[in-house]
Amino acid sequence: MRVAVTDGMAKEAVKKLENAGCDVIQEFIEHDDLVNGALAEFDAVIVRSATKLSEEMMQAGLPRLKVIARAGVGVDNIDVDAASRLGLPVVNAPRASTQSVVELTIGHLLGSLRFIPRADRSLRSGQWAKKELKGTELFGKRLGLIGFGRIAQGVAKVAQAFGMEVHSYDPYLPLSVAKKVGVTMHKNVDNLFKTCTHITVHCNLTDETHHLINHKRISMMPGVDPFNLKCGNHIVNCARGGIVDEDAALAALNSGQLTSLALDVFEHEPVDPASPLLEHMNFHGTPHIGAATIEAQHRVGLDIAEAVLTVLHGGIADTTVNRDALS
Ligand code: MLT
Repeated sequence: MRVAVTDGMAKEAVKKLENAGCDVIQEFIEHDDLVNGALAEFDAVIVRSATKLSEEMMQAGLPRLKVIARAGVGVDNIDVDAASRLGLPVVNAPRASTQSVVELTIGHLLGSLRFIPRADRSLRSGQWAKKELKGTELFGKRLGLIGFGRIAQGVAKVAQAFGMEVHSYDPYLPLSVAKKVGVTMHKNVDNLFKTCTHITVHCNLTDETHHLINHKRISMMPGVDPFNLKCGNHIVNCARGGIVDEDAALAALNSGQLTSLALDVFEHEPVDPASPLLEHMNFHGTPHIGAATIEAQHRVGLDIAEAVLTVLHGGIADTTVNRDALS
């Protein structure tokens, strides 16, 4: 069995595939080569986010290609509908990076409230800006989570430990799940924005969530905490680019309605180095590194190797994202 790993994978995971008898080829495959049938020499392909897989690339890989694997959570770089039409299972590793993304989200939140990136920049430029860098605490503030899946639930737990009051909006989850862990669920997303000064994003990018955070909703954010302290409004997105309307967020940073914005993900990646967002002192960002930890990549690799081997041995992996469409 030959497995193509196009965007890198933890070496323990490569070993696991090799120990199971696979010939693992680790090499980025160019777009045109994929279109011209590069996958036809493989039984499985494992990608991260750099490789985009279209219908014609998958079609050109048949009949040998048996499984498409995404070493990560989001499958937005794979045409899953086309894979289903071609009878190809698409498997992912939905649990492996949860803790890493939770921790990065909290890191960005703390970084924003205490101006850590801005303070570092000013320190390096020779300033001692102690008086200008008066931040706020997480304690007592209202945090609104967009989505209440695994990552949001992890963020909720840490936020509660900091003494935050946690709210969420997730139309796809029974209210009882949030109630059990002391999180207030909102049926209307606008109410979440009217209630919370701190918003973190944990949903997929879909037609429904594209620019869900826009001018109208940012304008609704109260800017004051339950004790009437002016804590400002803060947004963090470590989920998917495009959920935050970056132009609207920049305008809100300029007007002062938004006090801080932290993004790990951007509508267009890599982000344009000339983007005016990068110039704003109350913005800070990271280059899509939510899952980029030693632990997460170790788990992602092993989980995805397991899923690929299951399919190559004739089984159905429990992380098959198009299982319903295939049956
Ligand atoms: C994921 O979907 O797993 C994350 O966004 C990480 C990544 O794409 O590298």
